[in-house]
Amino acid sequence: MTRNKPFAAIILAAGKGTRMKSDVHKVLHPIAGRAMLDHLLGVVDGLAPAHKVVVVGSGREQVQHLVDARSGEIVVQEQQLGTAHAVAQAEEKLAGFDGDVLILYGDTPLVEAETMSRMLDRLNTDDAPAVVVVGFRPKDPGAYGRIIVDGDDTILKMVEYKDATEEERKVNLCNSGMMAVRAQDLFPLLARVGNDNAAGEYYLPDIVMLAASDGRTSAVIEAEPWEMAGVNSRAELALVEAEWQRRRRLKAMADGITLVAPDTVWFAHDTVVGRDTVIQPNVVFGPGVRVGERVCIHSFSHIEGATIADGAEIGPYARLRPGADVGADAKIGNFVEVKKSRIGKGAKANHLSYIGDADVGEKANIGAGTITCNYDGFFKYPTVIGEGAFIGSNSALVAPVNIGAGAIVGAGSVVTRDVSADAIALGRGTQVEKPGRAARFRDMMAAKKTGV
Ligand code: UD1
Ligand code: MG
Repeated sequence: MTRNKPFAAIILAAGKGTRMKSDVHKVLHPIAGRAMLDHLLGVVDGLAPAHKVVVVGSGREQVQHLVDARSGEIVVQEQQLGTAHAVAQAEEKLAGFDGDVLILYGDTPLVEAETMSRMLDRLNTDDAPAVVVVGFRPKDPGAYGRIIVDGDDTILKMVEYKDATEEERKVNLCNSGMMAVRAQDLFPLLARVGNDNAAGEYYLPDIVMLAASDGRTSAVIEAEPWEMAGVNSRAELALVEAEWQRRRRLKAMADGITLVAPDTVWFAHDTVVGRDTVIQPNVVFGPGVRVGERVCIHSFSHIEGATIADGAEIGPYARLRPGADVGADAKIGNFVEVKKSRIGKGAKANHLSYIGDADVGEKANIGAGTITCNYDGFFKYPTVIGEGAFIGSNSALVAPVNIGAGAIVGAGSVVTRDVSADAIALGRGTQVEKPGRAARFRDMMAAKKTGV
């Protein structure tokens, strides 16, 4: 969606994140396998912003790459003097910019595009509020800043918990911190914010009262508490993850996917699943997975960086690693690991195998316990298995090696040389039989033991 009026996003991320107890910048902690900041930038990008400015304190070098990849800019707030001071750091980057500004928090990653649009729309309604603030009503308003409104959506006062009276603390409409302000209003207002308050900080919400002193009104719009959930600790990270997953599962089911036990399926931010696919309990998706239609993923499968075509059957207990490309109607069964390999249409590897750096032809059958020995400790090598080939159980295919189409490898073989099409290859010790020898052996040993 492209808006007529340009807007810029300022994302605050200069807080120390002390409670995370982490060497990793707070906004880089992942939700569904993707950095919180990237979730937010992704949603913002969907609205085609003119500028994106991320305000960081320490750890600039950690976030630089991500911000660059999304063509954003970084400014550093050397000292964390408060949210108003943080936003003011973006002024130089937005010099001459005449559009609207959305102020967002890097540690509040679930905000949806629809809410961002509502903020901008409200700013541009006829009564033209000076500031639009996003409020929410959490179950426990705790120490959030409060928004005091008149009967309607006009804000009378914004007050931080520390500075609030008992009466004001009883108000359950809380400040999410997110705001929309015209650039032309924002920076002059910020320049007037002081720090004479309980925290000795420059409070962003103060711009609402400053605008009021100029005779201008500000408006609140409300959003759902889950959308405003911020991450300050590992426990809150898990809560936000849970909320993201809850919503993703509902979407999957709405899209025509069966989740037998939804709470036990974990999606990644980019998982794609086709309709009429069934996902049994306890399945985990890492990033980069595409699943076709009518696929069945049995319990306890872990799938990452893999493509699964229509009608395939996976698991239980399958592990698909990056580069696994499973063809239509193929079967990858229990305790089978597939890495960087193409599994042809209708091919089967049903039990206890490792298939790595391989190309398995259509309808080939990989017997239980087959291993592609793809690594010599230094380099990786390919294994090619032709269409309709049959690999007997417990075979070791020592790569690089080619098994021709329709070939059969006898069970227990160690295959070190190529096998031609339609040949039978046996690479195992020859069985010998000594008639009656077992009985004689038993007699001899029994006699020895009794000393007779
Ligand atoms: C702020 C709001 C409060 C609101 C709450 C919602 C103010 C004064 N208070 O409080 O009304 O209910 O958020 O979560 O705005 N940050 C900087 N630089 C700074 C300070 C903060 O970049 O100097 C960033 C932080 O990284 C964070 C965000 O701003 O992303 C909010 O900062 P935080 O310290 O959590 O503000 P609160 O005191 O929780
Ligand atoms: Mg906070």
